[in-house]
Amino acid sequence: MCGIVGYIGESQAAPILLEGLSKLEYRGYDSAGIAVYDGENIKVQKAVGRLKVLSEMTHDGATMQGVVGIGHTRWATHGAPSNTNAHPHYNQAETIVVVHNGIIENYMKLRKRLETKGYQFLSETDTEVVAHLLDYYYKGEPLEAITKIMHRVEGSYALGIIFKDHPEQVYAVRKDSPLIVGHGKDGNLIASDVPAVLKYTRNVYFILNEEIAVLTKETIGFYNVDGEEIQKECTTIDWDINAAEKGGYEHFMLKEMYEQPQTVRDTLNPRIKEGSIVIEELGMSDEEIQKISKIHIVACGSAYHVGVTAKYVFEGMARIPVEVDLASEFRYRNPILEKDALVIIISQSGETADSLAALREAKIRGVKTLGIVNVVGSSIAREADKVMYTWAGPEIAVATTKAYSAQLIATYLLAVKFAQVRGEVLEEEVTGILKDLQKLPEQIEMLLSHKEKIQRFANRYIAAKDVFFVGRGIDYAISMEGSLKLKEISYIHSEAYAAGELKHGTISLIEEGTLVAAVVTQEDLYKKTISNIVELRSRGAFVLAVTNTGNTEIQKAADYVIYIPQTNRYFTNSLAIIPLQLFSYYVSVGKGCDVDKPRNLAKSVTVE
Ligand code: M6R
Repeated sequence: MCGIVGYIGESQAAPILLEGLSKLEYRGYDSAGIAVYDGENIKVQKAVGRLKVLSEMTHDGATMQGVVGIGHTRWATHGAPSNTNAHPHYNQAETIVVVHNGIIENYMKLRKRLETKGYQFLSETDTEVVAHLLDYYYKGEPLEAITKIMHRVEGSYALGIIFKDHPEQVYAVRKDSPLIVGHGKDGNLIASDVPAVLKYTRNVYFILNEEIAVLTKETIGFYNVDGEEIQKECTTIDWDINAAEKGGYEHFMLKEMYEQPQTVRDTLNPRIKEGSIVIEELGMSDEEIQKISKIHIVACGSAYHVGVTAKYVFEGMARIPVEVDLASEFRYRNPILEKDALVIIISQSGETADSLAALREAKIRGVKTLGIVNVVGSSIAREADKVMYTWAGPEIAVATTKAYSAQLIATYLLAVKFAQVRGEVLEEEVTGILKDLQKLPEQIEMLLSHKEKIQRFANRYIAAKDVFFVGRGIDYAISMEGSLKLKEISYIHSEAYAAGELKHGTISLIEEGTLVAAVVTQEDLYKKTISNIVELRSRGAFVLAVTNTGNTEIQKAADYVIYIPQTNRYFTNSLAIIPLQLFSYYVSVGKGCDVDKPRNLAKSVTVE
């Protein structure tokens, strides 16, 4: 999604804006622009394509002199990627300039009204409406104009605004799109996400819905939608700044895959105390846990795949019925939620629009909600009744790896805890389960150390047209994630199938040499999946099997075998996914794709 940065202070604004925007590149974008007040006018420069183009055009910002500015990376929604549609957008007199993330849902209606009042629009964007509407309401007092448009505009927005008449201020407003304020030593900043300001400050304010921030070079004031001043608390960000940098790795995705052992430890260890699982943030008594009648897991993309895995784990271990929904479906399907149900929303960013809307839907229905979230202070983290953080640190690559792994761990912890409280596992079994959990980090390390083998294998499939991923039970859930990883970063068509379902249609797509990755980690299902592998090979498929150490039987059936270490049957996903992530990564590298920023994708999907 779009990225916003704003700066006001002692230093030249343009280089800071470009630097900040580069830290938001992971969000996905197709054009970029900056606006700087040069002492007389607000100057705007825009460029289609990578930020590099804008940097070259402005000599790294040197051609845009001034200490106040706003910048934007745009991910096209209304209107194609073009210079005209790129942000910032002016009002007609070029005295107000705006950058925007989100979607103004009633922009057509507003645009028509403004046109009848003589306003002329240059772009196809919904954002330009905001610039003209501000102009319409502006009578010399920016805060007043901003609060007025907040009553008129429907949809989601994070806005950065400069008024030429008030060049000693930058204005920021948000509703349903993320925006933070950084309080720096030689100036203040706004940004869509923390990495953009970390170079300048660790002191951050999270702007909440329908709040306005007014920044000068020394001060920051906050106001509500009625223009009344409000007080906010400053949060100190304690991430290591290197966590948001590549640190010598070729890509963020590779670095983040290598961070998985640590991520798993960080999510796990603080919640295992003296041999038992303690999830303080859950805030549920044993009685409440016993009463849970059903769990609804709601999420998007990879987080949804975590939910599919978690269904097997909760149902298998804790014997609690689970329904898993894509958030975009859940929010509109009028779900039946029992009063003792628990709704778990899983989200790395905590800002995914559909997941946030699903959470709100559940809350309206009075059901207890729990967010499993990575970004501290994000919307889902704030709005869920309870939040369990995955301590994965900032994830920059669009394709999730370490956050996914941390989410799996969070769900395992919950499932074991619930199973224990509900008497579905014996105390002595719990010791073994915890041992298996604590072994996962070093087992992941070991799998990562075999990257060359997987790279060699991946290089053979750079030209593949279609790849299928199959498995049964939990292995089907792993297949879904393996398939998504491959298609999103290598642009190779791929599908995941429940192995038993192939012969009901999909097997007709198998041709001589088609690659099928079969995940085979559930011992009681070995034989069943092996017979599917045999069916596939007899139709020409080349079968790569990912299975447990010791499953030698499979060597006769598959063409190529990758072994994962032994673990509890419910935790195999955490291991089997590693070779699949590496495979996708190396196919993408081999094809020369933009691994960290795949085309058409955004890290944080803050629109419906
Ligand atoms: O931030 P979220 O976890 O809510 O994001 C959900 C999906 O958009 C995300 O998992 C997406 O599918 C990833 N690109 C997959 O790698």
